[in-house]
Amino acid sequence: MNETSPQNVAPPLTPPVAPPLGLLAELTHRCPLACPYCSNPLELEPLAHELDTATWNRVFSEAAALGVLQVHLSGGEPVARRDLTEIVTHCAKIGLYTNLITSGIGLTERGVEALSEAGLDHVQLSIQDAEAASADRIAGYEGAYAKKQAVAAWVIKAGLPLTVNAVIHHANVSRAGKMVEMAVKLGARRVEIAHTQYYGWGLVNRAALMPGRTEAEAAVAEVEALRQTYAGTIVIDHVMPDYHARYPKACMGGWARRTLNITPTGKALPCHAAETIPGLNFANVRDMSLADIWFHSPAFEAFRGTAWMREPCASCERKEIDFGGCRCQALALTGDASRTDPVCIASPDHDKVAAVAGFRQEGAAEVPYVYRRQKQPVSSV
Ligand code: SF4
Ligand code: FES
Repeated sequence: MNETSPQNVAPPLTPPVAPPLGLLAELTHRCPLACPYCSNPLELEPLAHELDTATWNRVFSEAAALGVLQVHLSGGEPVARRDLTEIVTHCAKIGLYTNLITSGIGLTERGVEALSEAGLDHVQLSIQDAEAASADRIAGYEGAYAKKQAVAAWVIKAGLPLTVNAVIHHANVSRAGKMVEMAVKLGARRVEIAHTQYYGWGLVNRAALMPGRTEAEAAVAEVEALRQTYAGTIVIDHVMPDYHARYPKACMGGWARRTLNITPTGKALPCHAAETIPGLNFANVRDMSLADIWFHSPAFEAFRGTAWMREPCASCERKEIDFGGCRCQALALTGDASRTDPVCIASPDHDKVAAVAGFRQEGAAEVPYVYRRQKQPVSSV
């Protein structure tokens, strides 16, 4: 045995940082819809600030080399990028699994075929409601409901697996089950029913979006019952209303642990709302390699692992299950991103959830939406 044999190497004191598995690429903030629950920031980036095709493709190559397996092509509306097919072609060539997260608006039948031929692996189509008038009102776009029916048919015809995604809130909570049924009719293999997360525009619209207790609980029960009805037909992913859980979710699977986001301008973020946290500076893929950003940039180190935690998380047996919950939610509800997520029943701030984020009162007046507005023109594939 020589001195460099593995038996002589001292084990590291902390586990090494694993590479990311997924990358969410916000290709653009441009979007024809105006959904009031959008998680994009309030300051939307214009077309002129977006990364160009060559830079995105370089980032995807770096991601593949780093160990990323899946890229989620998102926005805004990623179909607004004229180079979307070119990007998909590149990702497929370097072996990345590509998931297009789209509202469907701007897609054509030929565009879907072209994306499929380019190697797209999966489509995740958003729906706003199971009733046309309400869906179009939520989206702030007349004709959105009808267009999505057509897009779903094109996706199925092209042989692409389809997931339907529905965000649940006051205006559609009574039709959560109908949206599962709609996803089945559209031919989806999977449906994601997700109660609104209050970040970005969702936070601005919280009073309008928050459901009442009775309607939220009824929706949860209805969707859970449909699991049995549709077992073997469609997979139901059900993301429960966060403010009403006993323990928080492991947001992003833990900060800088599994995935990262790249904004339209190239900023690398550990989560979509990370820019709301004061004091964090985010490296840009224009200036730094993805590997350097992931392993060494201070923003990714800030809440990685468990060493940053204070009590009650520091000595909690769940600390490697939920990683203290969501940093951005802790900030939004307590003003301090390093505190325990107030959703947790052990959090000293847990009362703030009930006080700030309580259910809508029975008979409360409707609150008008502040629509997410995008001034840039949108083009088709
Ligand atoms: Fe999770 Fe912290 Fe609550 Fe424990 S105390 S359950 S680690 S949020
Ligand atoms: Fe930022 Fe949860 S959204 S950590």
